[in-house]
Amino acid sequence: MPSWLLKAAVQGAISLLPGRHHFNSLLQQRVTGSLVLSKATFDAKVSHCRHHLERFRRVRDADGPPAAALELGTGWYPIVPVGLALAGAPEVTSIDVTALLEAERVRRTLDMYAAALASGRLAGQLPGLDPTRAKRTIATARERVGATAEELLATVGVRALLGDARASGLPAGSIELFVSNNTLEHIAPDALAEILAEFGRLSAPGAVMDHFVDISDHYAHFDRSITEFNYLRYPPAVWRFFNNSLQYQNRLRASDYRRLMERAGFTVIAEEPARGAPEQLARIRLARAFRGYGRADLLVLRSWFTAVA
Ligand SMILES: C[S@@+](CC[C@H](N)C(=O)[O-])C[C@H]1O[C@@H](n2cnc3c(N)ncnc32)[C@H](O)[C@@H]1O
Repeated sequence: MPSWLLKAAVQGAISLLPGRHHFNSLLQQRVTGSLVLSKATFDAKVSHCRHHLERFRRVRDADGPPAAALELGTGWYPIVPVGLALAGAPEVTSIDVTALLEAERVRRTLDMYAAALASGRLAGQLPGLDPTRAKRTIATARERVGATAEELLATVGVRALLGDARASGLPAGSIELFVSNNTLEHIAPDALAEILAEFGRLSAPGAVMDHFVDISDHYAHFDRSITEFNYLRYPPAVWRFFNNSLQYQNRLRASDYRRLMERAGFTVIAEEPARGAPEQLARIRLARAFRGYGRADLLVLRSWFTAVA
């Protein structure tokens, strides 16, 4: 059996268990290794954070950070929200419907920031970052023995909110920058429409959204015998057997994200699509559900979407 199918079967079974997120963490840590925070992953997330900050500055013609930023999908390692806070954003909230944060993983994130600061690497990477202040903030947090993940994050200026972004409970008009990374592709289309509507409600005048979306078949990251277009061959009735709630993939294409954002009242002002190899796509017999998309659209495997309220 190809290893992606094995992973789909194991994750599908785990997704039915109580404590499924714990078992999924073990699977990702011990078997697929995808939960280990490498320097390469850390650097990639810091560069995403830089993208968010630069986009905000450019779109708003501002020379400082947003007064209030909201990240959707905290995940396991809060690298992006910590980066936003270190770059001077006074109010940073990160929301996740699943409690994936652990003190140990927040500490690992802070250790990586401390190392990047000590080497001088971070100074040029995050616009607005004051290295001396950032070093002091990180050091204070790292000294907090026995603190929870939430307490550690609060020390560096990040509020971790456990809840559903469809109904965040945050005040209307309170957010200037919305960001997400590798998250939108894991949310069902109806829920995504509701989240974007909520972002519309939360938007301060001139609010900016900046999202990085990986719309490749994630099983291909793990199993090199398939391409990142592979999942486009399965009709929805078949795909649902391979899909599961632990690593749900909505299979929306770039044009779908654009349409959902525009429907929620945002104007998409920039996209940065990265396309795959046309010969790989040509080898896929597309399921009917994907035959109506243009070729240029189907070739997009990753993209940035920047939008304004
Ligand atoms: C792949 S993870 C996030 C990865 C993280 N941003 C990173 O860059 O490493 C996607 C997250 O979105 C969260 N999520 C999905 N639907 C959500 C919702 N309605 N409200 C809040 N968080 C949601 C999931 O719980 C999951 O932790």
